[in-house]
Amino acid sequence: MDAKVSEFDNVGDILVLPLFQGTDKAPNNALNGLSRTQRSLVNEALSSKSFSGKNGKQLSVWTAGCQVVLVGMGEEPSDKECRDGGAKTLAALSKDHGTNITVRFTTGWSTEKMSLFAEGMILRDYDFDKYLQKKEDDDQGNWNLNCQASARHQGPLSVAVAKSVAVTKGVHMARELGNEPANIMYPEEYARRATEWADGKPNVEVEVWDYSRLQKEGMHGVIAVGKGSERKPCMVFFRLNPNAEMNKQVPCIVGKGITFDTGGISIKPSAGMEDMKFDMHGSATVFGLFVALYESGYKGRVNGITCMAENMPSAGAYRPGDIINTYSGKTIEVLNTDAEGRNVLSDGLWKAGELNPSFIVDLATLTGACVVALGHEASGLWSNDEKLSARIHAAGNAEDEIAWPMPLLPAFEKEMTGSKIADVQNLGKGRWGGACTAAGFLKQFVQERNGKQIPWAHLDIAGTAWGASTNAMVAHGATGIHVRTLHRLITE
Ligand code: BES
Ligand code: MN
Ligand code: ZN
Repeated sequence: MDAKVSEFDNVGDILVLPLFQGTDKAPNNALNGLSRTQRSLVNEALSSKSFSGKNGKQLSVWTAGCQVVLVGMGEEPSDKECRDGGAKTLAALSKDHGTNITVRFTTGWSTEKMSLFAEGMILRDYDFDKYLQKKEDDDQGNWNLNCQASARHQGPLSVAVAKSVAVTKGVHMARELGNEPANIMYPEEYARRATEWADGKPNVEVEVWDYSRLQKEGMHGVIAVGKGSERKPCMVFFRLNPNAEMNKQVPCIVGKGITFDTGGISIKPSAGMEDMKFDMHGSATVFGLFVALYESGYKGRVNGITCMAENMPSAGAYRPGDIINTYSGKTIEVLNTDAEGRNVLSDGLWKAGELNPSFIVDLATLTGACVVALGHEASGLWSNDEKLSARIHAAGNAEDEIAWPMPLLPAFEKEMTGSKIADVQNLGKGRWGGACTAAGFLKQFVQERNGKQIPWAHLDIAGTAWGASTNAMVAHGATGIHVRTLHRLITE
């Protein structure tokens, strides 16, 4: 979507008027550029019972040459209601009326709230329709957004809208990667897209460790999970501004990238298995984050690591009972091949520790247990560092991507380190607290620095990466969750 900010000048094909409750007459400037007939139609609609201004209510008024959409915002909309309002408004528009949208923010709007409404529209403008055979006349082109506000808002609103456009490129990239089916999106295809994206960008580096490099390096957590598939595993390293801030510690973000999770030899039931194409959303978020940081012109240095593998059952697959010698030197007893995310992350997290990062954040669609605990409304957040946890929680709240603190108790770690024959085991004793024992497992692979673990946080996005019907920013499929949270965390 193209978006710009201007005075109350021309109207496009569609005029969106977000209005507060109790507006029964068009505010100043709201109807600039419309004819007398058009104005009176809109004013009649506003004073009628058909439009109350209640939050969530909309009324479309057809006038010759311009569809006017009255959007109720309620009395004092929250930040979330503003962002959701923009998203829901865009979702309801049809391109049959043309693709030039004018949104007019009049009486009562702060710059901050305008920005959120516009951001909702921008974020919602994504469809995964590339595999639909469309008729030619369906191709009506892209939306064009013109946000209109009075002079004093224009500077800050332009900055905010440009930032939303930049960050949304990353969000949409993450959704696209997540939505691709597993026959298209396999580890080396992810690596190819990352390499292609980095190509020609002087401040971006993408390095791929292919199957033979993984073997040379001893990345046996990733290898074990991926070796049962025809599509071999790999790791992808992202570096933004690799030559900046060389004597400063910078963040490292790690993503689980299981391009399809059948469960392996501990195979999953068929019902719903198709959703396991989303099991690489952690890695999709990492990629999307780098796109967002790049597009928004971030000047600092950032590292990313994604652990890419397809978890398949085959003659070459790893089995229950296997012992993996991970990159860290610690061994894992495999009790269930479906607990594969933690196996690949063991290598990614240990590698992250080698980069001497300021902090590590990992993202993973790690456990069904996390969905049981938090539904689709929040990601689980575990951390060994209260400050980092609080910062991620706050960034998530600001972006309405809730990351809910969960306990990292010593008892959970103990469950995962109780194997008689290996350093850690990849399954807890029972099924209770499955998201917490998984976090306790991951913690074993966070390196120490000066006798203390590097600050680390784990986001279990199993419930938020897709399937959240209450997420107004997305129609269906992958959500691009936490690209915005992490962009805020890193750039703020
Ligand atoms: N990718 C799944 C977790 C998952 C399940 C995410 C459903 C989203 C929806 C993960 O690899 C997995 O299979 N976890 C197991 C762990 C268990 C074997 C300890 C699970 O949650 O059942
Ligand atoms: Mn699994
Ligand atoms: Zn998985």
